Amino acid sequence: MRTVSIPREQIFQGPLVLVNRAHPLHEKERSALTSVDPHHPGILLESRARQLLSACIQKAGGQREIVPVSGWRSQQEQQRIWDDSMAEHGETFTRQYVALPGCSEHQTGLAIDLGKAAGYIDFIRPAFPYDGVCGRFRRLAARYGFIERYQRGKEEVTGISAEPWHFRYVGAPHAQLMETNGLCLEEYRDFLRQGPRSVALENGRMAQVFYVPAAGAVTEVEVPEGCCQISGDNVEGFILTWWGDTHENG
Ligand code: DAL
Ligand code: ZN
Repeated sequence: MRTVSIPREQIFQGPLVLVNRAHPLHEKERSALTSVDPHHPGILLESRARQLLSACIQKAGGQREIVPVSGWRSQQEQQRIWDDSMAEHGETFTRQYVALPGCSEHQTGLAIDLGKAAGYIDFIRPAFPYDGVCGRFRRLAARYGFIERYQRGKEEVTGISAEPWHFRYVGAPHAQLMETNGLCLEEYRDFLRQGPRSVALENGRMAQVFYVPAAGAVTEVEVPEGCCQISGDNVEGFILTWWGDTHENG
């Protein structure tokens, strides 16, 4: 075992940050952003998310039919989308489908809206069906670390209407735990706070996940050797993930 020291500011960073109306994005150094693909140089994603998105689209055979519509957004861009939507569609629609500026996970670089190739693709609500190539992408997404972030039935929890086109990168162990247990990101945080979890991954490895609340300016945690990825939850603590070859992992 060894001790890791996690500075409090890390609450606001990492692939598992929860960003919603109650938990705005904290200004921070932005992670490295890259174009999703050469055909869409203006659509940016955090680099690991971009890499896995491409891999998932390729695996689904969607290179021609799956179109990235909106990735990273600045505060100004989210504000402009909000203002335009308010003017064009009114407040009820806007609150359903556009996050308040400062509270959009697009501002993290971890979210991507996808559309099915067509002559016209709606920017706010692109069509991304449950069948065909889009359905194949959707079924593969968790293995590549993506969740369908705003699912039907979770509107009360997320505060956003169903958005079948909006995918959020969280990493494979987390996406798979959420999918298996039918949890949205808000609920997943509560699920982890109840106790450690483990998940069998596609590649035969196991991942262990546990939650640690922040304790003062620096949180000290005893972890096994080789541990771990640390992400803030953007609320009050950290999610630690590590990968081992067996259930017990020593
Ligand atoms: N459409 C999602 C909720 C956003 O604006 O971030
Ligand atoms: Zn979106």
